[in-house]
Amino acid sequence: MKKFPEKFLWGGAIAANQAEGAYLAGGKGLSIADVIRVGTTNPETGELFRQRDDHVVDGIYYPSHKAIDFYHKYREDLTLMQEIGFNVFRTSIAWTRIFPTGEEDEPNEEGLKFYDDLFSEMLKRGMEPLVTISHYETPLPLFQKYNGWEDRRLISLFEKYCRVIFERYKGKVKYWLTFNELNNVHVFPYTACATIAEGERKMDIIYQASHNMFVANAIANKLCHEIIPDAMIGTMLSYSAVYPNSCRPEDVFESMQLRRRSLFFTDVMVRGEYPSYFNRIREEKNLNLNITDDDIQLIRQYPSDYIAISYYRSTTYIAGTPQIGHTGGILGTKNPYLTANEWGWQSDALGLRNVLNELYDRYQKPIFIAENGFGARDKVEDDGIHDPYRIDYLKNHLKALREAIYDGVDVIGYTWWGPIDIVSAGTGEMEKRYGFIYVDLDNQGNGSGERKRKDSFYWYQRCIKTNGKSIDEE
Ligand code: BG6
Repeated sequence: MKKFPEKFLWGGAIAANQAEGAYLAGGKGLSIADVIRVGTTNPETGELFRQRDDHVVDGIYYPSHKAIDFYHKYREDLTLMQEIGFNVFRTSIAWTRIFPTGEEDEPNEEGLKFYDDLFSEMLKRGMEPLVTISHYETPLPLFQKYNGWEDRRLISLFEKYCRVIFERYKGKVKYWLTFNELNNVHVFPYTACATIAEGERKMDIIYQASHNMFVANAIANKLCHEIIPDAMIGTMLSYSAVYPNSCRPEDVFESMQLRRRSLFFTDVMVRGEYPSYFNRIREEKNLNLNITDDDIQLIRQYPSDYIAISYYRSTTYIAGTPQIGHTGGILGTKNPYLTANEWGWQSDALGLRNVLNELYDRYQKPIFIAENGFGARDKVEDDGIHDPYRIDYLKNHLKALREAIYDGVDVIGYTWWGPIDIVSAGTGEMEKRYGFIYVDLDNQGNGSGERKRKDSFYWYQRCIKTNGKSIDEE
């Protein structure tokens, strides 16, 4: 029968750097997110481009510095999410609140206390915390000194950070995710791995940084199970669908290769083995990597318990053509059967069912939809904020998800991306809004910051209340 499981986890997801603001409060240090500006249009490509600075430049607006001030307003924001009916809420811990430069011997008590309070407030409101340990917010000094995850020293620094947070939050957090969308190292290495990967060594850097994170992921899994035996710790994959643009065998084959470029990450972290196809990549790209036998052992012994994905859209691919990478995944050639939002993201609910089946066939591990959402420019009217486009997207994706569950896929939960408007990771805009809750701020951070319920707020509320049955209502 088509239905959502009892005890299905329904909620929403944000990340610290896109919501908290208060970028220096309570002893926090700078992260890599704190030196990237709001996007401006690149005249050659028409794409929004976010400039990265080496340090905080006076007079420049950096969206993460203020964001939506979740740091001070989380109680009222969580109360709104409670009103929707969330029983899970995903956020990340800003590493720099706990270890401001990443290298201190002792953690910062004020930062630890902040998340202690935040998780307590979630639990009080009936929400399981789902916590990402590192979501695009590595301490800036680790990028400046070591080129981030290219350097093995980050493994032990991450281990120290994990040990501290597992010990501190063991009574409160049962669902963990190590790295957000690690596979995006191919698309934006700075954000995903705090690494610049350019020039002749580009591929060496990408694969070495990935490897170091695989080892860190395994160590985190090990520690998590030792410290919190009843916890689940997963890995997170950006996995929007990629279709061959035609039945030309080259298009089909190259699209498979492109998907496999992402699946490589779950192949290693979930199966615990470097896949056999990697041998060819290693040889042909002439990779010079430092991978030890101990690393391989660790990766084998401590795989991820579940797979979390972000799924936003689909695209098509023509063999040999360049693709642009975005926060939503690869953007290849437009699909004539689908419509797009203002940012060119083509909605495709069936694609979600497709990738869920594909992942479950491949790994037989539980899946968490940790991100799915629709960015739009909303209009505040006298009688409210009407966002039928968001409701449509949500309804269609939930229907597809229910089909996938009926197909036999074990899906634990669903957290809509940005249930409250937050800063866009890709463009730095506030006006690319995902929320059920509107936040009165513009792209430069001007506005009252007031929160308002959109129509989608009530739609999702009814959906959760009926455990998904209402998605069939008109
Ligand atoms: C995901 C990221 O890739 O996409 C989020 O994990 C991000 O951090 C989300 O916000 C949506 O992308 P964007 O660019 O619209 O914010």
